[in-house]
Amino acid sequence: MGHQREKLISLARRLLNHNLNGSTDQADEIMVKSVNDYIDHKIVSSEVNKIFYDYPVPIALSAELKENNSYKATTAIDTPLLITRDETGFVRAFINICKHRGAPVCPEGSGKKSRFNCTYHGWMYDNKGSLINIFKSDTFGDIDTKNIKLTELFCEEKSGFIWACLNPSIKYNLSEWMNGFDEELSDIDLKNWHLFKSIKINGPMWKICWDGYTDGYHHHMVHPETVGKNTIVNLIAHDTYGPHQRFAFGLKNIDELSDIEEKDWEPENHLRLIHSVFPNSSISAIQNEHCLVTIIFPSRDLQETITTQYILCLKEPKTEEEIKKAEDFAELSRAAIVDEDYPINFKIQDFIHSKANKEFLFGRNEPIQQHYHKWIDKLSSK
Ligand code: FES
Ligand SMILES: [Fe+2]
Repeated sequence: MGHQREKLISLARRLLNHNLNGSTDQADEIMVKSVNDYIDHKIVSSEVNKIFYDYPVPIALSAELKENNSYKATTAIDTPLLITRDETGFVRAFINICKHRGAPVCPEGSGKKSRFNCTYHGWMYDNKGSLINIFKSDTFGDIDTKNIKLTELFCEEKSGFIWACLNPSIKYNLSEWMNGFDEELSDIDLKNWHLFKSIKINGPMWKICWDGYTDGYHHHMVHPETVGKNTIVNLIAHDTYGPHQRFAFGLKNIDELSDIEEKDWEPENHLRLIHSVFPNSSISAIQNEHCLVTIIFPSRDLQETITTQYILCLKEPKTEEEIKKAEDFAELSRAAIVDEDYPINFKIQDFIHSKANKEFLFGRNEPIQQHYHKWIDKLSSK
């Protein structure tokens, strides 16, 4: 039996047993979390500074910079990023700020380019970050250009993501940080999927937002016509890899497996598998050759989040029918977040300053959020 099939069979077995027993994977106890930890600017900003800057975070997908000499310029929280793939395929990440007087070297966007003309006075850098030309250098004065380079960040490409530490003085051992989760992710083979489209969405503040992405307890209320049509609410199989998490929801047809011999199971048709990369990314909803990947960063003022939703297809859709299927999947993914999850999350945020609650509760049946909050506390040494 293939490794991937074995994994899915074992998850299906767990979900089937839970469904027969009316149980689910659980944490040891109920978690009580202070509401202050969501809204106190000092606390949140020190956590963000630690977690999003000192540890590797996904900043892009490999599929966004597929070709050699391609690039992407984007912003993560307050850091403008220039991500490049050189002529040999090697990926680097820089802070997209010119060494002359701090303008962005490259406007936000992506494409194929190996040299970047600063947007202010036109200094030119190559895709390895070296300054290769000063505009009107004969008048600028003597300066050793060899030592002028864009500020480079720790960056590594792994399992279909491009990871970086936003703090330039930090280097990291990514394998150690992944704790085996890179192998889990590699099974998805994300780097070879075709990027069909991506959209940006403004979302609610970081922790409220992410609590929603890791919630298996709301599908019946918030998504009755979309995600919740197929999933059984409150039925999860949950595994952790350091801070990262893999969880599976049982689909409503899970009981059918009781009548089929295990060797004939098609487990992928009876569960939905989600990989949650700490602290900001998720690979979810792999369905019929379509996949939704989400990367989220807090906004600069930490009052919102910026979500990038990527829709990927196993192969590039070419026929009208294939394109329509990919569009339908993209619309379902957009609607579940923009029309369903975020409105309820924004409401929570709107009312979070009322004096109603000093604490939020995470039940034993909510082990995914519990794990996430434990790791926030652990890494920000609270
Ligand atoms: S700020 Fe970049 S060339 Fe002047
Ligand atoms: Fe949801």
